[in-house]
Amino acid sequence: MTKWSNQTRDGPKPCREQDNGLFEITARDGRARLGRLHTAHGVLETPCLLPVINPNIRTIEPREMWDRYGIQAVITNSYVIWKHDYLREKAQKEGVHALLDFPGIVMTDSGTFQSYIYGDVEVGVEEIVEFQASIGVDIATMLDIFTRPDMSYEEVDEAVEETITRGVTSLECAKEMMLNGPIQGGLFSDLREKSASEMSNLDFAVHPIGGIVPIMEQQSYVELAKIILACKGKLNPSKPVHLFGCGHPMLFPMAVALGADLFDSAAYALFARDGRLLCPWGTERIDELVEWPLMMPCVAECTPEEVRALDKDAKLKILAHYNLEMTLAEFARCRQAVREGKIWELAEKRSHQHPSLRDAWNYILDLKSEWILESQQTPKSGGVAWMSDETALRPELVRARNRLIERWSPLHDGRVLIIHGESGPWRERAGNLIARLKNVESDLVILISTPIGLLPYSLEDLQPFAHIDGAGNVWKKEPMLDDLKVLNLDGRELILLDLEGDELHERAFELLGLEPGDACPREMIWREQIIDKLRVLFNVKTEDAVAVMEGVTYVKSKTGRVRNVIASDGKHLFSPTLSHGGMSMTIEGAKWAHSLDSGLARVTVIEDAEPFIRKGRNVFHAFVSACDDLTRIGEMCLIVNSKDELLGIGVAQCDAKEMLAFSKGIAVKVRAGNPPLMG
Ligand code: GUN
Repeated sequence: MTKWSNQTRDGPKPCREQDNGLFEITARDGRARLGRLHTAHGVLETPCLLPVINPNIRTIEPREMWDRYGIQAVITNSYVIWKHDYLREKAQKEGVHALLDFPGIVMTDSGTFQSYIYGDVEVGVEEIVEFQASIGVDIATMLDIFTRPDMSYEEVDEAVEETITRGVTSLECAKEMMLNGPIQGGLFSDLREKSASEMSNLDFAVHPIGGIVPIMEQQSYVELAKIILACKGKLNPSKPVHLFGCGHPMLFPMAVALGADLFDSAAYALFARDGRLLCPWGTERIDELVEWPLMMPCVAECTPEEVRALDKDAKLKILAHYNLEMTLAEFARCRQAVREGKIWELAEKRSHQHPSLRDAWNYILDLKSEWILESQQTPKSGGVAWMSDETALRPELVRARNRLIERWSPLHDGRVLIIHGESGPWRERAGNLIARLKNVESDLVILISTPIGLLPYSLEDLQPFAHIDGAGNVWKKEPMLDDLKVLNLDGRELILLDLEGDELHERAFELLGLEPGDACPREMIWREQIIDKLRVLFNVKTEDAVAVMEGVTYVKSKTGRVRNVIASDGKHLFSPTLSHGGMSMTIEGAKWAHSLDSGLARVTVIEDAEPFIRKGRNVFHAFVSACDDLTRIGEMCLIVNSKDELLGIGVAQCDAKEMLAFSKGIAVKVRAGNPPLMG
């Protein structure tokens, strides 16, 4: 049977004093983010779940959560502590950390949930905040008004207003203590937005989204998604967002993809009490199991049958551990997915686990939210796992396609050839053929049929188009000819060439009615590639892109691809990124881009930062004084001073709103500084 080890872990390292309460982002995938919330009891790495500790019934000891599982934060209820004399006295004497025997971060709730369950609580608005301060809580919660889904618009509006009023008072009482400012609004999106904007104007450390427990109990996941979107769109992005009471692993990937950072739940213990196991695909009952749904460390040495035979307490203990381990594992999976740029892929997989999660997924995709789409990166590394035709609707793919449609236009006015029927790399399948065709018909426009739509051959290595991992039949679909219109190629003579089959070259020349010839110089193909990347990825106007390519030379890779683009005066301008089809700009390229009247976004920094940026050091949020609206996550941007002098070039780590909202963390990863002129 399970042996519980006695392993211990050192106590937390307090954050730097000046960082207390700050949140920073360290990695992201669209709106999903990995963050660090700085507190006096250590740094909380998000997204994560804070297990609920009932101070009266400790199903798993908080100390064990710290020692064995490395859980950095827990949540308990200050109202429960306040109400019970023996808990209150101990907490006030020794502090909440000693009461719980937990060395890490302690968040407390305020009694709002109890007032939702029992109708009222005896504690006052100021009293409960002051009480939380008196017991040394790290992140406290104000007494907000719970908005139930059955409440009328007027009732919810009143509750939202009252919560805002109480927010002001609560912040005054909280003084230095970090405070949760819950967002209410029931099922009314406009009230959620109002609550989020107004609560954002106050100086809360964290914004939980409240009033969602009954919505999750009813499995109304469309409503949950709507609420998260309404709140997130209006909240200050530099504050972590907590989903109050969200603890089912099935919901984590979608919630993380929508930008939720913190979660809390007693589900690990409550479900265990009923003999239920939390799994990423739903809930299983131990009564019916012969095998464990997933092997977890705590049950490595026992079978479900053996656990069923245990006495009530021992069984509860092991099942609660099982649920906690499953919860931690799913969060680890979500965080890893964010690092790998695969959170939407994980959310898509999980959406198949439950009909109402599927409804929520369909709702999110149909919405085509600009807020989600504009946060997606094109290109990003790694292949796209193609699950079904609806994979094309995943935000990162829609964004990539939109980018292409918005910014690309044909450079030639000739016929259109669409190659189809096979996956990439197309340069290997058809590169030589294309060079031969271009030699005899230079104004031919060549497109590739991909499952996301038609792609100009010049962007043949651009992710996600170039790396779709799907079953063979994905590539056998009819080309999406409707795309010709959006690519401004409507009405042209069209030729379709199937890449599958023998004698490709002979078939191609015959179809086009051309005499076979030799390949054109590779430079002709490369020129178009760079022009199209400048247009699609860097927002450069066609005439500017064409002009800069006058007289350039190329440094080739061993495999014959462009490594560097060199201007006629010998300056290195651009380097295509061979792994994902993107491109980076050197400081010489940046000087050219800076001279244009459109193109890359500009980020302006304060004077103090100038020497650091010129030396190539990163731009921290605290340095940013302004930035263009078109600043996008993962895209190159120019770094300038208030006189618009170029200081460097880098990759923006966030969008325009976030650039200014955060005060900690890296805003732009600088690729190259622009050293000052000597003398
Ligand atoms: N716990 C679950 N839901 C809520 C809520 O809306 N407010 C507070 N304070 N706690 C909660």
